Amino acid sequence: MVSIFNTYDALSDFAAQEIINTVQQNPKAVLCLAAGDTPRLAYKKMVALAHKNHLSFFGVTFIGLDEWVGIGPAIEGSCYHFLNELIFKPLSIKEEAIFFFNGMAANLQAECKRIDATIKELGPIDLTLVGIGINGHIGFNEPGIDPELGAHIVALDAVTANVGQKYFREKKQLTQGISLGMAQIMASGKVVLVANGLKKAAIISETMQGNISNAVPASFIRNHPNGMILLDKEAAAEL
Ligand code: F6R
Repeated sequence: MVSIFNTYDALSDFAAQEIINTVQQNPKAVLCLAAGDTPRLAYKKMVALAHKNHLSFFGVTFIGLDEWVGIGPAIEGSCYHFLNELIFKPLSIKEEAIFFFNGMAANLQAECKRIDATIKELGPIDLTLVGIGINGHIGFNEPGIDPELGAHIVALDAVTANVGQKYFREKKQLTQGISLGMAQIMASGKVVLVANGLKKAAIISETMQGNISNAVPASFIRNHPNGMILLDKEAAAEL
């Protein structure tokens, strides 16, 4: 399903409500929420709705989608820091309910195994909410990725390493990421992709109108039985 909204605000309202609905339907939901600029407003709205409706997230589990390798959770710009500030802290989510990649771990393979095991035990994920990179990535599943992989370490695309600088105050060496795999994302009960702004128009056109293939990992969402693609008018400009 594709929905096109007149404004980023309206798109964010809808995405926020999707998360709330998931938790209302299943107070023990397992959520996987992307970091990044696109869902920022949706998360603020989601937290405001949760507070307004006294919705408890006590039973909810959060699985990390991805993280920058070499960037610690306390660093502004890490995916963990972003979600911690916007969601975990405001909703008083307990540490035990958060399963996130540690980008500073000495053994990154063990991190992948830990998250794979967590998903096996607690999953499948009920709702995964992703943004899209201008190269078509989902999480850090970069173009060319093997869609059967579980959690894995990624050599970041040059585009991702470049664009990723926007999250940090100082220039960072971004060469690797650690990410859930497409197979884990696709096994989620629902996958919501959000995109806004003209800078996403070309890749959204490729995602929606090109072949479904690992050349544009986001295109796989078209095959998901509960896949939702939420766009503002600008991101949908080339459809
Ligand atoms: C972040 C993530 C990335 C972003 C994507 C879009 O956790 O998984 O795939 O969703 O790069 O980023 P923004 O929303 O900043 O344009």
